[in-house]
Amino acid sequence: MDRSEFDILKSKRLVLRHFRDSDLEPFLAHRNDPEVSRYQIWDSIDRQEASDFIQEQMSRQPGVAGQGFQFAVEMNSTGELIGDCYLKIKDEDWRQAEIGVTLAPEHQGAGFAAEAVSSVLDYVFTELNLHRVVAVTDCENDASVALLERLGMRREGHFIENIWFKGRWGDEFQYAILKDEWLALRGLDSQANAE
Ligand SMILES: CC(C)(COP(=O)(O)OP(=O)(O)OC[C@H]1O[C@@H](n2cnc3c(N)ncnc32)[C@H](O)[C@@H]1OP(=O)(O)O)[C@@H](O)C(=O)NCCC(=O)NCCS
Repeated sequence: MDRSEFDILKSKRLVLRHFRDSDLEPFLAHRNDPEVSRYQIWDSIDRQEASDFIQEQMSRQPGVAGQGFQFAVEMNSTGELIGDCYLKIKDEDWRQAEIGVTLAPEHQGAGFAAEAVSSVLDYVFTELNLHRVVAVTDCENDASVALLERLGMRREGHFIENIWFKGRWGDEFQYAILKDEWLALRGLDSQANAE
């Protein structure tokens, strides 16, 4: 298993990289947008919390079990931070992980979330050799549900009132995809990436 230090992930329009100090203002802006936080466990973030978050993320690596890693999502053409993509490898099983994604509102509806998550799935299945990735979403989060289905993830759980969320019980879907399923969707050879 190769867990050498992560550098960057490049796709057609995006670069996924570590957070850096200069991300503070755009990060604060999108994290404090009520539409962005509507289905997230957080509501807002102040300057100190955002700065601490960035400092902590700068020291982390995505392949470490039990530790959440946020890829900063940057637009290739402008160098602008447009969102972040979450990866957490399970503490008790390094072959499984959870992902999530957040985009600034002005960059939604352009396929950037799908492009960013695809980069992360390519990375975790080919570089980190993970077996399975899950994503959990509020059932009312239509954009997130559409994204996960567009990516080809399988809805395998529908939890009813399983979370106390912003003053009421919420329902969640769990989606998942296996390494072989993702590589087949991408037209990649699973044998070439076997252990
Ligand atoms: C969930 C979220 C990331 C989805 O973002 P998104 O931009 O809708 O997702 P995608 O990247 O897949 O973009 C798809 C849309 O871009 C459009 N699009 C435009 N150009 C495109 C392109 N070149 N390629 C693909 N899609 C394109 C698609 O038609 C689609 O539009 P539609 O929703 O009107 O049908 C976003 O709504 C968000 O950040 N929400 C707040 C945070 C959140 O709730 N995250 C989920 C937590 S699990």
